[in-house]
Amino acid sequence: MRIYCTEDYEAMSRKAAAIMAAQVLAKPDSLLGLATGSTPVGLYRDLAAGCAAGDLDFSQVRTVNLDEYAGLDGTHDQSYRYFMNKNLFDHINIDKANTNVPDGKAADPEAECRRYEALVARLGPIDIQLLGLGRNGHIGFNEPADVFVGPTHVVELTQSTIDANARFFASADEVPKRALTMGVGTIMGAKKILLVVSGADKAQAVKAAFAGPIDPHVPASILQLHPDVVLVGDKAALAALMEVRA
Ligand code: GLP
Repeated sequence: MRIYCTEDYEAMSRKAAAIMAAQVLAKPDSLLGLATGSTPVGLYRDLAAGCAAGDLDFSQVRTVNLDEYAGLDGTHDQSYRYFMNKNLFDHINIDKANTNVPDGKAADPEAECRRYEALVARLGPIDIQLLGLGRNGHIGFNEPADVFVGPTHVVELTQSTIDANARFFASADEVPKRALTMGVGTIMGAKKILLVVSGADKAQAVKAAFAGPIDPHVPASILQLHPDVVLVGDKAALAALMEVRA
């Protein structure tokens, strides 16, 4: 695993954007696995700036997002489709027909998960999968559980995730209780993983993921088995991991 430890959030965003940009430059029709949450917002802004400057061309790029809330359609301002349009797709020269997010409004969510898994398999392999990290060690919406779930599936969100994401909704009651997410198998199938973390409140999750046992109660710990992981974090988020590796 390669680790880049940066001074702060802005430097983390620049570094991670440079890695994504290098992928697009090296392979203009890359399949990018994308993520939501507050952590990637800066890197998406930097990618959009690279596109506006004429340095990056997304016209052939294809994307698959990790996850979506069940019950929200793409026009809901807290849906992950809306997030992706607002934070990235509306600002780059990508063909939106080449962007994919699970359909949170699908009448049969299980069937939608099967469709999405097959779509990733058909478009894939994912060249680079961007991930954030939940405070409880989740990746995508793979929550702590007794077993790792391989394919795209429907998940019940934990109270800790509902509480963490309540800040984006009018109240915790409005946070959907279920989501559709790529499974750890879908994620591990990516050729390269780029995990971005920022802030002291992620430090324990980062340490548990990379300095602890591989354990489905810390879903990100499965990444220890991936041959090409790049972890980009600011020093606050990496502090506890760096301590045990020193
Ligand atoms: C959400 C998303 C994850 C994301 C995580 C952390 O629950 N499903 O993909 O990594 O939260 O979000 P943040 O970056 O806002 O801390």
